[in-house]
Amino acid sequence: MAEHPAYPVGLRLSGRRVVVLGGGQVAQRRLPALIAAGADVVLVSPEATPSVEAMADAGEITWHRRPYAEGDLAEAWYALIATSDPEANELASAEAERHRVWCVRSDDADRATAWTPATGHSEGVTVAVLTTRARGRDPRHTAAIRDAVVEGLRDGTLVAPHHRTRTPGVALVGGGPGDPDLITVRGRRLLAEADVVIADRLGPRDLLAELPPHVEVIDAAKIPYGRYMAQEAINNALIEHAQQGKSVVRLKGGDPYVFGRGMEELQALAEAGIPCTVVPGISSSISVPGAAGIPVTHRGVAHEFTVVSGHVAPDDERSLVDWPALARLTGTLVILMGVDKIGKIAETLVAHGRSPETPVALVQEGTTAAQRRVDATLATVAETVRAEDVRPPAVIVVGAVVNVGPDAARA
Ligand SMILES: C[S@@+](CC[C@H](N)C(=O)[O-])C[C@H]1O[C@@H](n2cnc3c(N)ncnc32)[C@H](O)[C@@H]1O
Repeated sequence: MAEHPAYPVGLRLSGRRVVVLGGGQVAQRRLPALIAAGADVVLVSPEATPSVEAMADAGEITWHRRPYAEGDLAEAWYALIATSDPEANELASAEAERHRVWCVRSDDADRATAWTPATGHSEGVTVAVLTTRARGRDPRHTAAIRDAVVEGLRDGTLVAPHHRTRTPGVALVGGGPGDPDLITVRGRRLLAEADVVIADRLGPRDLLAELPPHVEVIDAAKIPYGRYMAQEAINNALIEHAQQGKSVVRLKGGDPYVFGRGMEELQALAEAGIPCTVVPGISSSISVPGAAGIPVTHRGVAHEFTVVSGHVAPDDERSLVDWPALARLTGTLVILMGVDKIGKIAETLVAHGRSPETPVALVQEGTTAAQRRVDATLATVAETVRAEDVRPPAVIVVGAVVNVGPDAARA
């Protein structure tokens, strides 16, 4: 008999009975999508994996704890046969055929009347990949094609120009600490769809090189601001480009709301009536220590971590940080923008009770090719920064966590 290709179709199963026979790994993998499709799922199986059992307990499926019996498929629109009993699979398959119920078989794709494609989702689109014929089926190949397409749609490397959904207005995108792989999937997609990108010095600058030539990339540090404050000039640039109907991405280092002035920009855009979406980013305050082998918390060592800006010295009247209180805490202190003032900061922490022997690590240009870690103590850090010529951007970690990993520089 000639083998014809399968006919692809999307089943709309909402409220319709789907019978699943067998509660093992196959059911566990397939049930979430059936539940998401709104199907009225009836599982027939004497046993089930803990995850499948949890779906039954949560009321997402109806579970009959017994083996398959003739008549189980009578009311079904669609069936998944996946028991470990070959005879039951055969009988159920024959019943499905009699009742004209489309039926997937985990044990014998050749004899099934339907196949499950490798599926993935991206922004309102379902990608489903099927092999053409049963013979020579290579599920890993179809899964790899699905992954390539979904990943390409998500990160913007596969652009569907006539159908792409453009986000009007401005997206404040947290770009992560610098490694281009550490931006979120959403951030990367918005970047790929942008007409204009206004970028900071910090963040994943390598991603800018990948943008198509028509995208205007503006270095925020170079926006001329004349009589304006720099931030005001950036806000105005965002507003002006968005008012021209362009999709604007404001690409920021780390997370937009961690010492990133994200809310100031959002407020300015709101006042100008421009829609703004905020995409969180991986903050350097956690990821840069992590990249250098330092966990900001560790069981039995630190039950808290505090992230603080060190851009003004503790005795500066503009400082909003209660350094004496921080000195009394026992957990981890993560200091951003603190390289210049670390001498004064260390002095203040010791003066108010932290041991001068407290370990300190400075991680410069974390997650980039130039990453470097320099270890010291509160007593030695000022001199170490000078001697080792540590420069911003660096994250400074103070506390016992500095020494828990295998990368710690132990004397
Ligand atoms: C203005 S703050 C912005 C922080 C950012 N919003 C975040 O969540 O990571 C800039 C400071 O973040 C830290 N920083 C950001 N990226 C860094 C990196 N890759 N390596 C070391 N420090 C970094 C430095 O302390 C730098 O001075």
